[in-house]
Amino acid sequence: SVEEQLYRPNFHFTPKIGWMNDPNGMFYLNGKYHLFYQHYPDDNIWGPMHWGHAISTDLIKWEHLPIALYPDELGYIFSGSAVVDYENTSGLAKNGEIPIVAMYTYHDPKKGDEGKIDAQTQAIAYSLDEGKSWTKYDGNPVIENPGIRDYRDPKVTWDEERQQWAMILAADSEMMIYTSKNLIDWTLTDRFGKDVGSHDGVWECPDLFPMTIEGTDEVKWVMLGSISGGAPNGGNGTQYFIGDFDGEKFTLDDSFKTALAEKHDFWIDFGKDNYAGVTWSNVPEEDGRKIFIGWMVDGHYANQVPTTTWRSSQSIPRTLRLISENGVPMLRSEPVDEVRNFIDKGLEEGTVSIKEGEEKILGGEDIDYSKARIAYTLPSIDEISYTFKLSNEKGEELLFGYNSDDKQFFVDRRKSGIVDFHDEFAEKISVAPRLSEKSVHDAEILLDKTSIELFFDGGSTPITEIFFPTTPYDQLSVISENGELILEDLKIDQLKFD
Ligand code: FRU
Repeated sequence: SVEEQLYRPNFHFTPKIGWMNDPNGMFYLNGKYHLFYQHYPDDNIWGPMHWGHAISTDLIKWEHLPIALYPDELGYIFSGSAVVDYENTSGLAKNGEIPIVAMYTYHDPKKGDEGKIDAQTQAIAYSLDEGKSWTKYDGNPVIENPGIRDYRDPKVTWDEERQQWAMILAADSEMMIYTSKNLIDWTLTDRFGKDVGSHDGVWECPDLFPMTIEGTDEVKWVMLGSISGGAPNGGNGTQYFIGDFDGEKFTLDDSFKTALAEKHDFWIDFGKDNYAGVTWSNVPEEDGRKIFIGWMVDGHYANQVPTTTWRSSQSIPRTLRLISENGVPMLRSEPVDEVRNFIDKGLEEGTVSIKEGEEKILGGEDIDYSKARIAYTLPSIDEISYTFKLSNEKGEELLFGYNSDDKQFFVDRRKSGIVDFHDEFAEKISVAPRLSEKSVHDAEILLDKTSIELFFDGGSTPITEIFFPTTPYDQLSVISENGELILEDLKIDQLKFD
């Protein structure tokens, strides 16, 4: 159909049919990355939640598998995580298999509709065949509701140092941390976050995992937390916190705490369309990557985006890096390297200079901007403002770039095509602070049919936004707003996926 051709992404994960929201239960095992997701197969809007399932060997091309978890008498299957239980700590394997244990939230719709506070409980399911088939544990729920309305999205991590499982879930507007020896019996050890970060919404979909600060052997624990309102450009967003975890409690790193109090909150992405993202478990140690994926839409208009047989895609999987800048630990995110294996022909534009006020058309006529990667560096960004323009013959355009007056990147989709399906979709230009203090500036940009993901300054300012042109964009130009713009090492790579 026309809609499939126009809007089904070339290289971002979408459900075959029906509704999708959060990524769930991601784990790696024996060469395969597993991705589960909040799914309602019977309609194209949010409904009784299932866990859809797909696998990939390269994080880019996905194979759809049968639905892993169906709702049952205990409720809908809300978000959660999965781990590989190598030592069979759960005792769920009886014949020497290695159990994969998924932990998720049950949402009882009857209780929810009646306004009861205890509709959400935590449960487990397991697979003894590497994720192919799933059995719900017969002692569910494993954690009853303690009288908290929004009590959900358990994310489990193996805590190697203490030889235990650590689990974090979101509870109203804070996080709760639990530990367990067997994935079944859980002890609450911490409540975190009432007095830090943004609180303009409900907290959801947390994550908690150790990472080593690049170039050191110092280990810090990273906490991710999605929030339903109050993101940098309004709507949904994902904050993060960096600190230490002693096997029971999470405490903020001192310099991170100071930066949080004196400077700003910390966000995984500044665009409108990256929510509920968490990381893969069990990625091999020798690989060492922390790989993140987020739901690529804002919940406020997710039910209205102009696709009719499926809704939503996931972001490109991203490698997270923990770096220390001026003594403050912070995250960077970049597309996984696997994307580069799909570069078909690299167009080396080399150094391109654009005079003040000039607009220069880039790339050849034959570039398909619905699957492309753009990269460049600027020797100095201090006084430069620039605007890239992707456009089509209908006069629809997507603008993005940098404004040196307020030191902000921007994405402007106000005239990007179909924008009137929801008030919040294109009412404003999205902006994001430049966090890097370096003069040299670099960018890596991924373009698909309906999405742009911008990774500025080595991934210190990522921006993710979606759009719906009525005919594909086929021209890219760049405008220098003030002074001479010098783009070095400009590359416009055509990506190919078949
Ligand atoms: C986030 C969220 C989660 C919940 C799920 C339900 O988008 O609200 O907190 O588990 O979606 O589909």
